Amino acid sequence: MIEKITIDASRETNQKLKPPLVPGLPLLGNALRMTNNFVGFLVKNYQQFGSIFRVKVPNQSFTILAGPEGNVFMSQVGDNYLTLSEIWKSYSQEYGTDIFISRMEGSAHRHLRQIMNRGYSREAILPYLPLLVETTEQMVNQWQIGQRIKVIDAIRQLVVRQLGLTFANYEPDDYFQDLRHFFCTNINVAFKGWSEKALGRQGYLKAKARVMELARKLITHHPAVPPINRERNFIDDLLEATDENGQPFSEAALIPQVLSPFLGGMETTANICTFMIFALLKNLEVLERVTAEVNAVLAKQPLSASALREMKSLHGAAMETLRMYPSSPVLPRSVKQSFQFAGYSVERGEQVMVATSVSHFLDQFFPNPYTFDIDRYREPRNEHHQPGAYAPFGLGAHVCLAKGMTEIQIMTIMATLLRRVKLHIDPPSYKLKTVYNPNPCPKNFWVQVVERHH
Ligand code: HEM
Repeated sequence: MIEKITIDASRETNQKLKPPLVPGLPLLGNALRMTNNFVGFLVKNYQQFGSIFRVKVPNQSFTILAGPEGNVFMSQVGDNYLTLSEIWKSYSQEYGTDIFISRMEGSAHRHLRQIMNRGYSREAILPYLPLLVETTEQMVNQWQIGQRIKVIDAIRQLVVRQLGLTFANYEPDDYFQDLRHFFCTNINVAFKGWSEKALGRQGYLKAKARVMELARKLITHHPAVPPINRERNFIDDLLEATDENGQPFSEAALIPQVLSPFLGGMETTANICTFMIFALLKNLEVLERVTAEVNAVLAKQPLSASALREMKSLHGAAMETLRMYPSSPVLPRSVKQSFQFAGYSVERGEQVMVATSVSHFLDQFFPNPYTFDIDRYREPRNEHHQPGAYAPFGLGAHVCLAKGMTEIQIMTIMATLLRRVKLHIDPPSYKLKTVYNPNPCPKNFWVQVVERHH
């Protein structure tokens, strides 16, 4: 167990030693190995080269900061040296504003986070538990015994619907395809080296226009239904907020914030639920334990905050899924001020990835790291509490604003699903392949409904 890691990134040195370069192919660099098994590639190179190394892909190179050292650096001082501003530039340009939470820094960023904090909190989603259960049941009720379901597609639609209803009091089903097209294209341009030409294509422009229409609807229609007979939500908070100088936000500045729950949640939460279904169906003893627990708790009471607190095995399964199948395995950044790390120089302008998920696979923190073990997070083991060990929601100033509510959403979807249906992997011989779409999710993963319970 690592007790303490001390970071001194500012140390002056005459040496400008470059981190080791991972050997790769002449033109492709490390691209193939990174595509085949991205996290496995990072773990292997951490074990070989240590906490800092460089990788190349066509037209780009990245410095990787990995393992507990990289995580502690990111949580303690990373924001002094690293920025997201350049990376999200093309995305915020699509809105015609610089006011976009992931791009902002310093006091303006803190101010916006403070405005959004209540709407994104665990407490804000609790009144919606019955709605989360009802919408999950509506999805499951459409499934027939013997039917094959492509899990990711079904859960993505469910998650978007739930986000629309809880954050904005609006059912966004008609906009689902447009939201996905718009966000995925932007994320692929921002993070995966797609050409900006993708932002000029007809299909994309159509989707963008529809997404802007949705945002304007949320902004203009919201005050017409004031929060008297409904919960006050995230959009109410935004519409009443002012910027750092006490001025109301313009419509252009509100649009990316209004849409941020969809961007933040539509892929990540759906992918984690899908991986969790996969992991449970592959580990039948765990599935039995978690299902028995859910049924026992819900036999006594409807799903509530206290019911969820009793579901310790379900919680362990969610935590373990976030560890083994991280939705954001790295934090992409660029260097705004040169710094020293583990004896190497990292220079201004370089592209960096803080490989937060590497620690998730280190035996020193998580013994038998490739075993789905839902008891790791219980007393006295608490393996995730070790410094630098566990960071599925990121680290530093931009750590996920919605991590508390997300945990509730995932547990509610999964408890409802496990209570209502028994599933099998179809075909049973399915071998997991992770595809980046753009966040990691199981490729061609289907299940078959074998039983339904009422
Ligand atoms: C399992 C689900 C989720 C995971 C694993 C996840 C992960 C993350 C990570 C790693 C970051 C930091 C990105 C960075 O620093 O570059 C982040 C930021 C953020 N997430 Fe999440 N997220 C999840 C769900 C959600 C949901 C459901 C929402 C909204 C409803 C959301 C909203 C946000 C926002 C607004 C930020 C930006 C915070 C900032 O820049 O200050 N996330 N998330």
